[in-house]
Amino acid sequence: MKNIVLILFMLIATYPLLACERKNDSSIEENTIPEVRNRKILIAYFSWGGTTQQVAENIARYSGGTLFRIETVNPYPTEYTPCTEVAKEELDKGIRPKLKAIVKDFDQYDTIFVGCPVWWHTAPMAVWSFLESDAYDFSGKTVIPFCTYQATYRDETLAKIVELTPNSKHLKGFGTTNKNTNLDSWLKEIGVQTVDK
Ligand SMILES: Cc1cc2nc3c(=O)[nH]c(=O)nc-3n(C[C@H](O)[C@H](O)[C@H](O)COP(=O)(O)O)c2cc1C
Repeated sequence: MKNIVLILFMLIATYPLLACERKNDSSIEENTIPEVRNRKILIAYFSWGGTTQQVAENIARYSGGTLFRIETVNPYPTEYTPCTEVAKEELDKGIRPKLKAIVKDFDQYDTIFVGCPVWWHTAPMAVWSFLESDAYDFSGKTVIPFCTYQATYRDETLAKIVELTPNSKHLKGFGTTNKNTNLDSWLKEIGVQTVDK
């Protein structure tokens, strides 16, 4: 009898907590923009120093998308100047570096963010390798470019991602010099914010 009273008491005591949890779930639902509710989002990014990665992770947090890091089989030098030299040689010679991995079940995604740092006024050649890969068919998909940079060539880099995906639809891209930048208004503007933050 004592046990039954104890169980009843615990049920009554925890009910408000359970009810509250359900209320929070439904408030997320209400803030979801209907147009994007069923989108399958991939965020593919290349990052050498971590800035673009941070932005990609924030996009994933806001959009509920899946992250994919574009990595080369031969890693770039960890020191800045040697890295710029390798990057320049790749660009000048049009080298497409081999990539480490491919996206699993690529076909399931209909919206793909593609992000990278600006390298020598454009996207790093690893991003060219990714976008030109035979493993993927970008036609009909929505591609959204983003980049991080120090000072210059933001627009040219976003345009390169668009140019490398000629059969895709494109939404307005985004470029930032700050990894902690606020993505809110951009994601809202393009209708890809599914979780209210
Ligand atoms: C090889 C190389 C080339 C770069 N070229 C440019 C450039 O042309 N314009 C620019 O504004 N920043 C340039 N940067 C700076 C990076 O774009 C910037 O620091 C970026 O945010 C780094 O992103 P990450 O930390 O994800 O690698 C270059 C950096 C490197 C390593």
